[in-house]
Amino acid sequence: MKETFIKQIEDENDENLKIFAKMIEEGKTVIFPTETVYGLGANALDEEAASKIYKAKGRPSDNPLIVHIAEISQLKELVLEITDDMKKVMEKFWPGPLTIIFKKSEIVPLKTTGGLDTVAIRMPSHKIANKLLKLCKLPIAAPSANISGRPSPTKAKHVVDEMKNRVDAIIVSKDSDVGLESTVLDMTSEIATILRPGGVTKEDLLTVLPNVEIDKAIIQKDSNLIPKSPGMKYTHYSPKSQVILVCGEEERMIQKINELILENDDKKIAVLCKSKNKEKYKTNYILDMGDTIQEAAHLLFQKLIESESYGIDIIYAETFDEKGLGLAVMNRLKKSAGYVTIQA
Ligand code: TXA
Ligand code: MG
Repeated sequence: MKETFIKQIEDENDENLKIFAKMIEEGKTVIFPTETVYGLGANALDEEAASKIYKAKGRPSDNPLIVHIAEISQLKELVLEITDDMKKVMEKFWPGPLTIIFKKSEIVPLKTTGGLDTVAIRMPSHKIANKLLKLCKLPIAAPSANISGRPSPTKAKHVVDEMKNRVDAIIVSKDSDVGLESTVLDMTSEIATILRPGGVTKEDLLTVLPNVEIDKAIIQKDSNLIPKSPGMKYTHYSPKSQVILVCGEEERMIQKINELILENDDKKIAVLCKSKNKEKYKTNYILDMGDTIQEAAHLLFQKLIESESYGIDIIYAETFDEKGLGLAVMNRLKKSAGYVTIQA
């Protein structure tokens, strides 16, 4: 077991950030906040450092990592080609919750890209993440800072509970803003394709690109469709309790969930729902998702993790419209439920 160095960082001017930057330079693993979720970082150009990330997470080695940069000038040495469309997308959405897939250059180790000849790159807008990247002057590979298969952490407390003694250091800071991981956009294919929906939506991307596709494996669960993003094929975002989605017209959905609560009166049941519905459920355990889709994105992972401290057996989850950011929220919810859905 490792002794993890844990320190609260107030803002990007905190002198202690230099300690963490030095650790990255030394090939160590450092968890840091980003605007999407907390990331488990290490030097992206150092094979051995990248291996430590897989080990800390228990992550399958064919699931590639996202490389984080602070400045566009860092991009040139990491990729083979930067097209005009890529430039337009980067200008509009970087820094921010968008990851772009490029053809990788020689200097990016295959360990970082899970053996692929492409590399996923993102420029985070979070000020502490940005400063850490600038101080160490290295690209940092960072998946979400959870054990593989678990919900991604958006709160420092959840990170420390789960990852303490698995990494060299943890930067403790505020909650992540967006709450869901970045949109992953493959720009090596003829038509730009969303491999993982996130904070930047298809509608947003269509403001600068003529055409955007969504990987079909995201929308439907069909064993014949293999997701183009390796990470999307694994079980994901699963809290200790079983999650079951209930869909249908709102009044019927509420009634159905209440019937299910009654049928399972020997179990501890929580309901993941919009604020406006929370009084309507016959349970003491309400996981309140707020009333806007932005709030739902921000709160989803934190509520799933929080439910574990109440020892919940089953979480019945309301469903959301799959448009805009709703596509990303429903993608994570479906995966956390292992696609188990009841039609009301
Ligand atoms: O918001 C985020 O993206 C967070 C923060 C920390 O930046 N990171 C994150 O990383 O979510 P991770 O490893 O949990 O998810 C990376 C996803 C996986 O689904 C992976 O398969 C996909 O991106 N990915 C990475 N490189 C890829 C590549 N070259 N081709 C296709 N998919 C790739
Ligand atoms: Mg992840």
